[in-house]
Amino acid sequence: MPTGLFITLEGGDGSGKSTQIKFLLRRLQTRHINSVAVREPGGTPLGNGLRQLLKFSDIPLSPEAELLLFNASRAQLVADVIQPALERGEVVLCDRFTDSTLAYQGYGRGIPLERVEAVNMAATGGLKPDLTIFLDLSPEEGMGRRSTTRDRFEQRFEQKGIMDFHQRVRKGYLELASKEPERWLTLDARLSSREVSRLIWRRVEPLVGGIRP
Ligand code: TYD
Repeated sequence: MPTGLFITLEGGDGSGKSTQIKFLLRRLQTRHINSVAVREPGGTPLGNGLRQLLKFSDIPLSPEAELLLFNASRAQLVADVIQPALERGEVVLCDRFTDSTLAYQGYGRGIPLERVEAVNMAATGGLKPDLTIFLDLSPEEGMGRRSTTRDRFEQRFEQKGIMDFHQRVRKGYLELASKEPERWLTLDARLSSREVSRLIWRRVEPLVGGIRP
């Protein structure tokens, strides 16, 4: 039975997830709470290999192949990193998790949600985040904030009409959040990173109260 705390961050490109993970990790570590931060896809040798493939190779991928590859990375990450850390009672911060697959491969790419859920379940054994922080931003604003050049993720999605795709992803996130309001904290990513970080901490601090350093 896991005793730690599992927090995931979700949001579109340019929403500031990685900055917030850094801030939150620092806050936890300052309080001597054992914490680990990981990202998807990645975090294990298999995950890093799949990340390279998904991000940089030009091998054509069907939506279903994509669904399985993201979940192959996830299965290994859960088994090797997330589950053991939770069993040790640690806080795990994960940059994207199953909700990304529902939003991108489900709402974005059009795979039926029940099918995405079934594959997610196979990869995670049913592990669910205790808290999911969604940094909400319109695709237009997200694009404007991005500094990195487009990778293969982006190029694959682009063929489908990038703005429409990202609108569907955003709508998907909002629907997922409205279905489970107690698990989700939705924040306006246009707020300053300092303010977003304050709101995140306000929600997380009581949850880590029970975790001893
Ligand atoms: P990444 O370069 O990690 O950037 P960021 O998380 O900051 O956006 O890109 C990950 C990409 O993979 C992103 O476009 C979303 C996509 N993705 C999926 O389509 N499905 C998934 O299950 C996951 C985990 C990610």
